[in-house]
Amino acid sequence: MVQSVNPDEIIARCKTLAALSEQPGCTTRTFLSPPMGEVHCMLRAWMESLGMSVSVDSAGNLRGHYPGVRPDAPRLLVGSHLDTVPCAGAFDGVLGVVLGIAVVESLNGRRLPFGIEIAGFSEEEGVRFGVPFIGSRALIGTLDAALLEKKDARGCTVAQAIRDFGLDPSRVSEAILKGPVLGYVEFHIEQGPVLDQLGFPLGVVEGIAGQTRARVSFRGRANHAGTAPMHLRHDAVAAVAEWILAVEREARATPGLVATVGQVEAIPGASNVIAGEARASLDVRHATDAQRAAGMDRIVAAAQDIARRRELTFECSARQEQVAVACDPNLVMAMEKAVERAGLPLHRLTSGAGHDAMILAQKVPVAMLFLRSPGGISHHPDESVRPQDVAAALQTGLHFLDQLEQLHGR
Ligand code: HGY
Ligand code: MN
Ligand code: MN
Repeated sequence: MVQSVNPDEIIARCKTLAALSEQPGCTTRTFLSPPMGEVHCMLRAWMESLGMSVSVDSAGNLRGHYPGVRPDAPRLLVGSHLDTVPCAGAFDGVLGVVLGIAVVESLNGRRLPFGIEIAGFSEEEGVRFGVPFIGSRALIGTLDAALLEKKDARGCTVAQAIRDFGLDPSRVSEAILKGPVLGYVEFHIEQGPVLDQLGFPLGVVEGIAGQTRARVSFRGRANHAGTAPMHLRHDAVAAVAEWILAVEREARATPGLVATVGQVEAIPGASNVIAGEARASLDVRHATDAQRAAGMDRIVAAAQDIARRRELTFECSARQEQVAVACDPNLVMAMEKAVERAGLPLHRLTSGAGHDAMILAQKVPVAMLFLRSPGGISHHPDESVRPQDVAAALQTGLHFLDQLEQLHGR
């Protein structure tokens, strides 16, 4: 098993890409922002140096192709997302693309019975338009007209952002996967504490938790902070504060449920004005869809009760419902054999974080390999990976290709 790419080089590449940001001093890269073009240039150069053909589809996904032995050979998709949350770490998403390229590089020109397509998705986090997975949805044909018309905070639509990047939104259907695809594999940091606490470098993902993302609003009555008596107030911020604690209580009380209010906005947002409205985000996840739905119902009921008691109104609009996804049993088994052939301890786990794999799973078999997140930290500048874990993932990825060769004929 030849392994030509130094793990320190892979980490250095991720850190180089992390500097390509909309915000000086931290890593923030949203859908088709200018830094994304610079990321494409770097990744394109690395892939073209391996003899890969590279293109950008109309949804802004970077697509690199390493042919198999025959031109009509099926292909294995390997990828992840290139966008980030605000003030992100250097590895969430990008590592999956850089590691995928390193796997191709480690083949040293050896052709397989299948091709390899590297996919760098344009948007998975949902930061700019509030809806995640825009990039990978284009590959399965669900980047529809409604989504193209979604607007960001400045009123720019997804379609306009695609045009501003020099692409044609009317051609997004051309991004749809064509031809035989063996499956999709995503290398990703765990983003949680499990592997770190076990002391294991890698984990094989057996499923990805479903998630509901919503926007809520409490509407009361704005008034003067100095003159309105406390017992006559309909303070929207006080209501949302009480509700946020109820969200936390519900999640703590339900095994496996996580619920997060990551954004809160007071309107009109002046220190001497009682807020007439409070808007907030809501993110609810669970490995089983029924539990997630029941948790969501209890959280909404708590909000309605608070609004009634405080004589406010409450609204909740779902922005995204993503069902829980099981990884493909055959690919999971192949990945586990690869981990064992790399001489590493084996651990299966469910992903609490969402991934493009849950979108691709609607069309092709998927598998994910997690790398340990030291300290369980992610969506934070302190996110990190260990060189020895990157080496382990690269080794496992090459063994995984061997497994696929055995499954699909040398
Ligand atoms: O939010 C998530 O689960 C992922 O990081 N996009
Ligand atoms: Mn993320
Ligand atoms: Mn991610």
